[in-house]
Amino acid sequence: MRSKIVAGNWKMNNDLSATETLITALKEQIKDPSVEVMIAPAFTSLYSAYEALKGNAIEVIAQNMHFAESGAYTGEVSASMLKSVGVKTVILGHSERRAYFAETDESLAKKVGAVLENEMRTIFCFGEELEDRKSGKFFDVVESQIKNALFGFDAEAWKSIVLAYEPVWAIGTGETASPEQAQEVHAFVRKVIADKYGDAVAQEVSILYGGSVKPGNAEEIFSKEDVDGGLIGGAALKAEDFKAIVDAL
Ligand code: G3P
Repeated sequence: MRSKIVAGNWKMNNDLSATETLITALKEQIKDPSVEVMIAPAFTSLYSAYEALKGNAIEVIAQNMHFAESGAYTGEVSASMLKSVGVKTVILGHSERRAYFAETDESLAKKVGAVLENEMRTIFCFGEELEDRKSGKFFDVVESQIKNALFGFDAEAWKSIVLAYEPVWAIGTGETASPEQAQEVHAFVRKVIADKYGDAVAQEVSILYGGSVKPGNAEEIFSKEDVDGGLIGGAALKAEDFKAIVDAL
């Protein structure tokens, strides 16, 4: 049975004090969840968050990392540095990193390789732009994102890969993809994986949906057969909204 996951991507929000306040509220609200729950604070708050959540069901994860183990990469953070502060899972390929920080399928393939070498797990983001959706090219776009970044790895690697479909036009816009649109792409991606690695591998890959998930729409989106949870942005910054979304899965 593949994992059911709700992960909160805090993006560039919450300084150390705000992180501690939100985590205190989350610990109050989310006790013994029936699904995997993760939060991704900024790098500066990771260790404090890890310490605050030790022994708690909420996992602290990172929003990005570099593919190198160390070296002349000013401003970057490596997998082993993340492991040293208790992080085991890293979000990679978010559309904001692709758009603003020149992230490519090739650089992402290297980062996924570093995740696997460090026996970590990744939530790998993919999704089309609005013009790709309007033109009907979105299947081609998501297929190439998955194949170019992930198809160089063997079947075993997929035990450490969680996917997150995040249509760019739904991120932060309030324009949530319909449950049917989400299901359509999730099922398509699962078949693309099955065609290369076989159905047994494909059926074990958790595919999350992200893009304006809110307490009011989460349950219907999560009810779809190939939707295994959500990657949450804005709603993750409010403990009661994040709890409502966790409870909806
Ligand atoms: O990574 C999750 C994020 O991109 C979704 O953001 O605010 O639309 O839930 P939001």
